[in-house]
Amino acid sequence: MTTQGTNLDQWYDHYADRTAGLAASEVRALFAVASRPEVVSLAGGMPFVSALPKELVSGAMERVMRDSGPAALQYGSGQGLPQLREQILEVMALEGIRAGVDEIVVTTGSQHALELITKLFIDPGDVVLAEAPSYVTALTVFKSFQAEVAHVVMDEFGLVPQALRETIARVRAEGKPIKFLYTIPTFSNPAGVTLTWERRLEILEICRSNDILVLEDNPYGLLYFDGQPPHAMRSVEDDGVIYLGTFSKTLAPGFRVGWALAPHAIREKIILANEAAVLSPSSFTQYVIHEYLSEADWKGQINTFRGVYRERRDAMLTALDDYLPDLSWTNPTGGFYVWVTLPENLDSKSMLPRAVKELVAYTPGTAFYADGSGRNKIRLSFCYPTPDFIREGIRRLSTVINGELELLTTFSQTAPLPVVRPETSVINPPANLS
Ligand SMILES: Cc1ncc(COP(=O)(O)O)c(C=O)c1O
Repeated sequence: MTTQGTNLDQWYDHYADRTAGLAASEVRALFAVASRPEVVSLAGGMPFVSALPKELVSGAMERVMRDSGPAALQYGSGQGLPQLREQILEVMALEGIRAGVDEIVVTTGSQHALELITKLFIDPGDVVLAEAPSYVTALTVFKSFQAEVAHVVMDEFGLVPQALRETIARVRAEGKPIKFLYTIPTFSNPAGVTLTWERRLEILEICRSNDILVLEDNPYGLLYFDGQPPHAMRSVEDDGVIYLGTFSKTLAPGFRVGWALAPHAIREKIILANEAAVLSPSSFTQYVIHEYLSEADWKGQINTFRGVYRERRDAMLTALDDYLPDLSWTNPTGGFYVWVTLPENLDSKSMLPRAVKELVAYTPGTAFYADGSGRNKIRLSFCYPTPDFIREGIRRLSTVINGELELLTTFSQTAPLPVVRPETSVINPPANLS
């Protein structure tokens, strides 16, 4: 029996320093409750996979087993299945990217690419530049490699170039090395905003002239509702951009297939890191996706997803207008998320238990900042619940928010307790009454 550790974990003293960044979020337990069917969850970013006909997947799986069974069940290449990489080129061409099949590395979801790239570049104390707010699980990865995140302000047109210049200058003046800019330029998670074309060019120029690599994460780019967004940043810059893509949102996340498109030397290192981590990404799911892309109308299926999410986005924005007209929020033209600003004095994290009690869940804004800001922000996802549930969820949320505001108003209007000054002898004078 060891004498060190804690009551809960006898190995507490044995962990590497970098695991300090792996604390479970305080809202995790609540999310377990929020997954109950009676709760309308506007919290998670789960794609609505039921809009994908099952036969399309089961047919592809059967053909894979019939025609390529032994290979699909075998270890594969650390870079990924060549014939799938060919098809990934077609997918990326839809966003203006031209590349070669050798430039792609298939990974276990784009999340794994994020981890591998962070591992390749980050020493403790190195700086990653990231939008404010940014994708929560990317922040967790950066933290787990002991990176320091320097947030860069964004507005409704995405990352603000001047703020990027200023942040680079400030970090450099502090003598800290900047390793890359992490950005989700299209339908960002969590803000739901899209970087304009002019700003894409300006930001690429700033990074080029400052010798900063860009890590462009693009899971949502093909899920547009109101016309095609600007082409990917990688479409104009080969050498200074690592691009991440995934089949999680345009097909299904259960396959766990994503990819990185990276300049030659970096790509070689990603392959080695991929092999060290998983030997090879799943052959089976790569074969199934290859088969699906070969036989199914995958562009038509993406169109179906667009239609589903557009309807849900509309339901959410209409419900916000109807039930919470005094708040402000972003207007996503694609993707999964709306970013809502609450009144200054509301704290979305402490409000969450009351929301879950009212049977609605959201993600508190603080999850999306490395520096604890975002107290009065919330992320609402419209991807999973049906339009009716979304409307009901927003109605419940309005009850919670209005209740909180009433409570705050009541307390701020309460007159201070009268100070009683004894007229004669003082017995036990109360401390600090004056
Ligand atoms: C911005 C962003 N990047 C990466 C991922 C990870 O996606 P996956 O690993 O399923 O490809 C997500 C998932 O929600 C995301 O929103």
